[in-house]
Amino acid sequence: MNPNLQKLQPYPFEKLARLKQGLQAPSDKPHIALSIGEPQHPTPHFISEALIAHLHGLTNYPATKGIPKLRQTIAQWLSNRFRLPISTVDPERHILPVAGTREALFSFAQCVVDAGEKPLVLMPNPFYQIYEGAALLAGAEPHFLNATRETGYLPDFDAVPDSIWARCKLLYICSPGNPSGAVINAATQEKLVRLAERFGFVIASDECYCELYADEANPPPGLLQTAHAMGNADFKNCVVFHSLSKRSNAPGLRSGFVAGDAEILGKYLLYRTYHGCAMSLPVQHASIAAWRDEAHVKENRAIYRNKFAAVHEILNEVLDVAMPPAGFYLWPRTPIAGETFARDLFADQNVTVLPGSYLSRESGGVDPGRDHVRLALVAPLEECVEAALRIKEFVQSL
Ligand SMILES: Cc1ncc(COP(=O)(O)O)c(C=O)c1O
Repeated sequence: MNPNLQKLQPYPFEKLARLKQGLQAPSDKPHIALSIGEPQHPTPHFISEALIAHLHGLTNYPATKGIPKLRQTIAQWLSNRFRLPISTVDPERHILPVAGTREALFSFAQCVVDAGEKPLVLMPNPFYQIYEGAALLAGAEPHFLNATRETGYLPDFDAVPDSIWARCKLLYICSPGNPSGAVINAATQEKLVRLAERFGFVIASDECYCELYADEANPPPGLLQTAHAMGNADFKNCVVFHSLSKRSNAPGLRSGFVAGDAEILGKYLLYRTYHGCAMSLPVQHASIAAWRDEAHVKENRAIYRNKFAAVHEILNEVLDVAMPPAGFYLWPRTPIAGETFARDLFADQNVTVLPGSYLSRESGGVDPGRDHVRLALVAPLEECVEAALRIKEFVQSL
């Protein structure tokens, strides 16, 4: 067996199931789960209909590169969303469809990391656990960049010494971040693009929450937008990951794309041809319909905005909780260890939240997730509000 498998940690939800084992939650209160980041708003009808209308496409093997119409649609979307001249995004060279960003974030590391170089893969801490597993199975050492309340819940990239950048082969960034919703601004992205050029590493920018933001006038910037604005017109060293799961409430569709550096994507296409995860034709057509429509995304944002406002107002009275600029999570600090908080909250109130430490590792003597829990505001408004009231009651009882 691959010895690196032994280095993988159980997934956060396995740890959570273990934490709840044997606990008896009050049966008079229906269970509310704020633990899983799975969108619960209905998938827009027109996306499902596009899928059904193209089911005859199941008779064909799809190409790994996807049909030109899908890549052209994505190029148009990227161009509109990130104000890139359409001529700068080449659907032939800059875009590949992927079966959800999870598999892409994982397989990308297997493609770009040379295990012989004692490589480091840098990532935020807390993080989406796929980054860590991808680094380990690629034969690299994960290097965690703590994102704490003191650093605005973003890694302090200025504090990373040159000796670490010199060993970095791949940097994962996540903006808007899971779990904090914090956004990396264009100036910081610019610094990272310069560091990537200087030290010869690749930036994998996970932007799968970038369409869920609070301020309609201020969408989060993307890495390709920044690269283009600073004259890096061919997106050298920059690859972005986008998904329909959160944007279009379609996590079951398994559809996203990667875009950026043409040379890297050429190699990644070769890798993916062997990896074998081409997107089926009906899914490609449903994805075209989804990327072409913005009305449902705007509606989606409005629903999250209402939930954030209602829940934050309640929790803010009893917890230290910032209103995030984007994403669908709240990341409050807890008055007791996050794991104890989650366990006792479930036992007292039948509400499940995720202990922050299940998303983080201790690094430099600090575990940035330890005194936090993650609340995914994916349930309907009334359920989120009911959960917030129960959490408030629980905190007041401590
Ligand atoms: C930060 C982050 N990246 C990527 C993903 C994967 O999303 P998908 O594979 O559905 O595109 C998730 C899902 O929860 C996530 O939280």
